[in-house]
Amino acid sequence: MPLLRLEGVNSFYGRSHILFDVSLDIDKGETVAILGRNGSGRTTTLKTIMGLITPNPGRVLLDGEDISGLNPYQVAKKGVSYVPEERRVFTTLTVGDNLEVAGKVGRKGHWTRERVLKTFHMLVPLLNRKGGHLSGGEQQMVAIARGIIQNPALLILDEPTEGLAPGIVKDAFSVIRTIKAQGDAAILLVEQDVKATLSLSDRVYVLGGGRIVFHGTPGELEARADIKKEHMGV
Ligand SMILES: Nc1ncnc2c1ncn2[C@@H]1O[C@H](COP(=O)(O)OP(=O)(O)O)[C@@H](O)[C@H]1O
Ligand SMILES: [Mg+2]
Repeated sequence: MPLLRLEGVNSFYGRSHILFDVSLDIDKGETVAILGRNGSGRTTTLKTIMGLITPNPGRVLLDGEDISGLNPYQVAKKGVSYVPEERRVFTTLTVGDNLEVAGKVGRKGHWTRERVLKTFHMLVPLLNRKGGHLSGGEQQMVAIARGIIQNPALLILDEPTEGLAPGIVKDAFSVIRTIKAQGDAAILLVEQDVKATLSLSDRVYVLGGGRIVFHGTPGELEARADIKKEHMGV
């Protein structure tokens, strides 16, 4: 049984039909990417998994259980951490307190505070700094650290390197690689850096106009010049 399964998911904003029969699977510990052009429905897919949008029709299954009707808080409780595009950190709390708050609501497991700070070593000198006084890149590191310290079964990252300086982009991919290597959490990654994303993903789905237009391994996608040209602009 896959960890996460989307079955024939259709999602709407009001009367706008955005996702059309989207089906996808993520196995335990697997790293899966969703690629596609801006507006193709990647964020909408993530929001539907988190319960911010209820599919109609369609189902979202976590460990075989239908979670389609749950709210985001309930989905998070079941072991899904979501780092949205707008990298939410508490601006009035210090970095240390941001991590502590997240750790408390999460599950116990491999990702202790010590282990998180070893992976996110760049946050150690910033532990007493308020979230609002961090650079965009530092805030993104805190947002990802907050996600993983909850010991999720699935960590969802929406464009984690968007708008970051090249040095920080490298740091972000490096922490994602470390999280993958530890193997506890499956990762669902939406990214615009196609090359870096393919190099760390086990499998990839491509969305075009709210439909899955490709799924396979990064190697299989490499061979599909048509998909890359039409749906990824590369
Ligand atoms: N809150 C919203 N209300 C109405 N339409 C939206 C909303 N958010 C996104 N859309 C539309 O849904 C489509 C998919 O958006 P999105 O899932 O954000 O794409 P992506 O993340 O792939 O860039 C786009 O056409 C976008 O304009
Ligand atoms: Mg998006």
